[in-house]
Amino acid sequence: MNHENNGNACPPAGRRGKHKSVIASDPKGLLRGAHIFGEERQVLPEKYSRKKRAVKQSRRLLRPTSGRPRNDGMEQAVRDRYARGAKAKEEALCCPTSYDPKYLRVIPKEILEKDYGCGDPSRYLKEGDTVLDLGSGGGKICYIASQVVGPKGRVIGVDFNPAMLELARKYQKEAGDRIGWHNVEFVRARIQDLRTDLEALEESLKREPVRSIDDLFQVQEALERLKGVPLIEDESIDVIVSNCVLNLVRSEDKKTLFREMHRVLKKGGRAAISDIVSDESVPQKLQEDPKLWSGCISGAFQEKEFFKAFEEAGFYGIKIEKFDERPWRIVRGIEFRSMTITACKGKEGPCWEGNQAVIYRGPWKQVVDDDGHVLKRGVRTAVCDKTFQIYSKAPYQDEFILVPPSKDIPLSKAKHFDCHRQMERDPRETKGKRFTKPSAMKSVCMDGGGCC
Ligand SMILES: C[S@@+](CC[C@H](N)C(=O)[O-])C[C@H]1O[C@@H](n2cnc3c(N)ncnc32)[C@H](O)[C@@H]1O
Repeated sequence: MNHENNGNACPPAGRRGKHKSVIASDPKGLLRGAHIFGEERQVLPEKYSRKKRAVKQSRRLLRPTSGRPRNDGMEQAVRDRYARGAKAKEEALCCPTSYDPKYLRVIPKEILEKDYGCGDPSRYLKEGDTVLDLGSGGGKICYIASQVVGPKGRVIGVDFNPAMLELARKYQKEAGDRIGWHNVEFVRARIQDLRTDLEALEESLKREPVRSIDDLFQVQEALERLKGVPLIEDESIDVIVSNCVLNLVRSEDKKTLFREMHRVLKKGGRAAISDIVSDESVPQKLQEDPKLWSGCISGAFQEKEFFKAFEEAGFYGIKIEKFDERPWRIVRGIEFRSMTITACKGKEGPCWEGNQAVIYRGPWKQVVDDDGHVLKRGVRTAVCDKTFQIYSKAPYQDEFILVPPSKDIPLSKAKHFDCHRQMERDPRETKGKRFTKPSAMKSVCMDGGGCC
């Protein structure tokens, strides 16, 4: 068996020992041309070779190559590309999109020109909302959102690109004056880490640069402390919007991104996301192309994976609001198009028995919700109080007939409800066993007689 050429990265154990002993027994580097692992190599003095190794490693650390899997270097490619895009309009990044013109009138021309969005998630906002825009770029969606949510609402734009933040902030006062209120701010963070304020971190690094491993450990500890006081607090946001950004996040960070989105949303909060999705899965080779990645193409979620990411993070009621029939780009036969989806947070929590039922209206024979409840058409299905409340609001309220109990059960007195059990609700449970006629029903039909 040829041990030298068996394809293993590590040499056989015996050979490893030989390597060690060569270095150890020749500290001054007097040996030259010794055989190591069957190869003729120059053996360098230990101190020198250690230094050389460190220099080589550090170069590798600082210059990630694009040829490796796991998206090394993609984030830098994204930062570089959008830094350029903040300074001069990049035609290749523009995906045709239309916004409500009444909101565009007050937005400065430069911001509208440097629009790199692919949809309009601001359509799903309402008055008073606290909004977080992930990857806010020049700030267009933030300035539209400011008008929709009004003076009682608040808008926070997040971007990790100083040039984009500069562009967005350049017009902050002017746009606010034109709108009539100032409720927009921009912060610097990676959207997959909404805890760390990158501006605060950069300031402290300027004051105390990292020059040693000790410094680095201190920074790491400081970062941990910083995370304890998150830039965007838990459950502080009503609506997350994002326009053509999630696809740009490195593959290995995408799960964390969805977890962060879920963390910062209030219970009952929602997400409205416009992004590029692909119909087929994108081959690794295309994912390793920094130009395609930073161009909002090869980092795109495959359609079904996009939904899975929301589901796995705990969102419910996930819905396609807009699906562009025409693809924006086709690369090697794979279609990349814009899609806008909405999703809700708030299905977690205990299940209490309130004697409530819901009747699914159809037209499907049955449907299954994100908690696994099966709702059969026309059947009075028993649900817990939490599910009942969820079905009484968007996006479900038009799908069901809600059957409340004749007598409310206060949650403090309610029994636990087993949501895993499928069951029909006996009408006697909602009406009450001794039901004959509730007084509230009398007046409508009894007076005139005959009508229903
Ligand atoms: C395609 S542009 C979209 C900009 C803006 N949403 C719009 O509609 O014009 C992507 C933006 O997201 C930012 N971005 C990309 N990845 C990011 C990340 N991981 N964290 C924070 N910002 C990011 C970029 O700097 C850039 O401003």
